[in-house]
Amino acid sequence: MHTLNINLPQKNYPIYIEKGLMNNIGEELKKIYKNKKIAVITDANVEKIYGQKIRDNLKNDFEVKMIVLEPGEKSKSIDVLQNVYDELLDFKITRADLIIAFGGGVVGDLTGFVSSTLLRGIPFVQIPTSLLAQIDSSVGGKVAVNLPKGKNLIGSFYHPEAVYIDPELLNTLDKRFLYDGMAEVIKYGCIRDENLFQNLLEYNSNKELFDSIEEIIYRCCKIKKNIVESDEKDTGERMILNFGHTLGHTVEKHFKYEKYTHGEAVAIGMYHITKKSENMGITQKGTLDKIKKILIKYKLPYELPNMNKKEVIETINLDKKNKGNDINIILLKRIGDSFLKKIDRKDMNMYI
Ligand SMILES: NC(=O)c1ccc[n+]([C@@H]2O[C@H](COP(=O)([O-])OP(=O)(O)OC[C@H]3O[C@@H](n4cnc5c(N)ncnc54)[C@H](O)[C@@H]3O)[C@@H](O)[C@H]2O)c1
Repeated sequence: MHTLNINLPQKNYPIYIEKGLMNNIGEELKKIYKNKKIAVITDANVEKIYGQKIRDNLKNDFEVKMIVLEPGEKSKSIDVLQNVYDELLDFKITRADLIIAFGGGVVGDLTGFVSSTLLRGIPFVQIPTSLLAQIDSSVGGKVAVNLPKGKNLIGSFYHPEAVYIDPELLNTLDKRFLYDGMAEVIKYGCIRDENLFQNLLEYNSNKELFDSIEEIIYRCCKIKKNIVESDEKDTGERMILNFGHTLGHTVEKHFKYEKYTHGEAVAIGMYHITKKSENMGITQKGTLDKIKKILIKYKLPYELPNMNKKEVIETINLDKKNKGNDINIILLKRIGDSFLKKIDRKDMNMYI
């Protein structure tokens, strides 16, 4: 088992990573939670495959209520939030009880937000089930729901009591979501871990990738832990995690979140900004080729689709992460070494 501890001024919590961890999740939870009531929030896909397993694991020691959402981003909405609050109140949940987020990033973000707001805060734990959730969204405390005007517009920072990561759950994940998560794994390699990047290039099959998945997840979570510990509220170093995201968000939005997954859009963003920075002499020559090679290998797109440049820049200007006249972009010096560059809005067109 790999263990990481997130150490923040207001909160410390562990991340456990182990194949098969779900098989005795009840025993694990007993170590940190002494009351009876547990509400498990999940989605219908995860419930169908693992619902019985989690119920069986918890039923001897806890009183369990399952709340099952429709799979997909649409569930991160105010309407769904309202229903979840109602179900939890019907269950007579109190601040001494526990909520479990058991699913991908959608379930994790919504459950975290519910937990942070209902009764002014109920403890929760994360059991992430998608690759993206295991390496990214379950760690770092960002929780949110969407508004019709945009994604993640209502949210807060609220950390779980613990994160339990079982990489075996990924065996049932649809391939497109696996590669979607791989885009973020590749991003960690690009920004902080050349060795991880190199290993990813060398795996010859999904079997080889899965044989190393526990280690891969550990390395990604460790990078995120270090970054979150030094900049919990995302005002400086944490923005490094947005490598490829400025353009990526624009691509996702332009195609109404239908044509490209988040990871696919980030892949395009990472490739394109590096193309520009390598041309400008900021990024070591040859970096772009390596990125292209790895994206092709993990079945991710790299070419920018046909989009109106003016519209792209307007969308970037509206991004909530950009303040005043400055836009923060993340560039690579080389694979494994990244930095944040503040640029004037009027110079953004040089990077698109
Ligand atoms: N909080 C953060 O820091 C943060 C970071 C990145 C992304 N996010 C958010 O994460 C969300 C995307 O997360 P996601 O990609 O996990 O999407 P998701 O939660 O929709 O899961 C993807 C799909 O995989 C299915 N699934 C999940 N685990 C499975 C398993 N083990 N077996 C079979 N199917 C499984 C789900 O039912 C869903 O259909 C977005 O809303 C994004 O905003 C949050």
